Amino acid sequence: MSNRMWGGRFAEGPDAIMEEINASIDFDRKLYKQDIDGSKAHVRMLAEKDIVTRDDADKIVQGLDTILSEIESGKFKFSRALEDIHMNIEARLAELIGPAAGRLHTARSRNDQVATDFRLWVRDTLDTLDDQLGELMQALAEKAETHAADVMPGFTHLQSAQPVTFGHHMLAYVEMFGRDRGRVRDARKRMNECPLGAAALAGTSFPIDRHMTAKALGFDRPSANSLDAVSDRDFVIEALATASLTAMHLSRLAEEIVIWCSAQFGFVKLSDKFSTGSSIMPQKKNPDAAELVRAKSGRIYGSLQALLVMMKGLPLAYSKDMQEDKEQAFDGLASVSLALAAMTGMIRDLEPVTKALKKAAGSGYSTATDLADWLVRVLGLPFRDAHHVTGRIVAIAVEKGIELHKVSLEEMQAVEPKITNEIFQVLSVDKSVRSRTSYGGTSPVNVRKQARRWLKELAKA
Ligand code: ARG
Repeated sequence: MSNRMWGGRFAEGPDAIMEEINASIDFDRKLYKQDIDGSKAHVRMLAEKDIVTRDDADKIVQGLDTILSEIESGKFKFSRALEDIHMNIEARLAELIGPAAGRLHTARSRNDQVATDFRLWVRDTLDTLDDQLGELMQALAEKAETHAADVMPGFTHLQSAQPVTFGHHMLAYVEMFGRDRGRVRDARKRMNECPLGAAALAGTSFPIDRHMTAKALGFDRPSANSLDAVSDRDFVIEALATASLTAMHLSRLAEEIVIWCSAQFGFVKLSDKFSTGSSIMPQKKNPDAAELVRAKSGRIYGSLQALLVMMKGLPLAYSKDMQEDKEQAFDGLASVSLALAAMTGMIRDLEPVTKALKKAAGSGYSTATDLADWLVRVLGLPFRDAHHVTGRIVAIAVEKGIELHKVSLEEMQAVEPKITNEIFQVLSVDKSVRSRTSYGGTSPVNVRKQARRWLKELAKA
């Protein structure tokens, strides 16, 4: 039997393989709510414009509400032969209300219908990601405030560089996720145009009111070009691009957690809730959640890549290729959402081991820059000379296998006779971080201020 919805000119039904490659119902059923909302807005507008009778529109709206509850209670029978969510719902509507169902598809096509449904879904998802980013930022900013004065080693090249505070490190991620949140909001704003009424590609001769449907569905305006409306997938690609950046940030933080909670570093304790054991090594506590967050970035970037490649060769307007956007987007966006939730849980429970952090902060000659700065500030040496003098003192410490503050005054004076006892004050890590008061620097005063600024901002939005 040929397809009821479009089979007028067909003598034969599709091959089984054709049905398998063509049907999207197995995944686009996720869009049922958006499809029903879109149809209700559409038919109400058709009635308002006297394109269908009020009576038919009422029947259609009631039928759609019945279908919604059938789907939500698990009673709805999805059929592959009916290809996608749009035709599954319309076919059921015909069973429920008879011939009036056939009027719903006036002045629209599945092309503008799917574009509308998917936009609504992506929009909701962006709103969820916005909230989730806010929760993660909150957890990080709270940790930052608590540990504003706890020192830890700051790294470059993963080599001890200068002491920083744990709070400062947490706030670096708040900045990153704050930018991600800004990108989510920008993407939402840009995508909030309604394709409904673009019909197949050229618009329609019916006197529809696209502003009315746009408004009913919470869009800012109808999209201005019907060809673009049905063939644009920027909105989901942009969502995946922002998700990819978030995934990259999450992965960097996850990587740090993996390193930090190793026995060799011992910088943080991860809660049992976000760790697992080993089936053979009883002593193990593995940071699986962090590892999986790190790994999720791969599939999220993969979704972005898949959609970019899928779209790049498509002539205007709609092509069936575009049906492939959904599984990728569902997977990529669900992955970033799960990764955000897992990271938020880990951060909330994360306990920095302040003693170990402090000890590590002082190792690796991390206050060498403070020594050089002192030579500049107090003795008036040019920075380049101070750098050289400090380098020679570090060499003594390396040679003797001791930390910088254990080098004796006499040994330092052998390198630069003007050095006094005062030098030992700047060699402590606490003094070092306290002195970094330049805007954006790691001093506890700065960190506390920045953490509070963020917490205040997060309470607003
Ligand atoms: N299932 C299709 C999709 O996801 C709906 C649009 C089909 N349009 C068409 N002209 N065959 O893209």
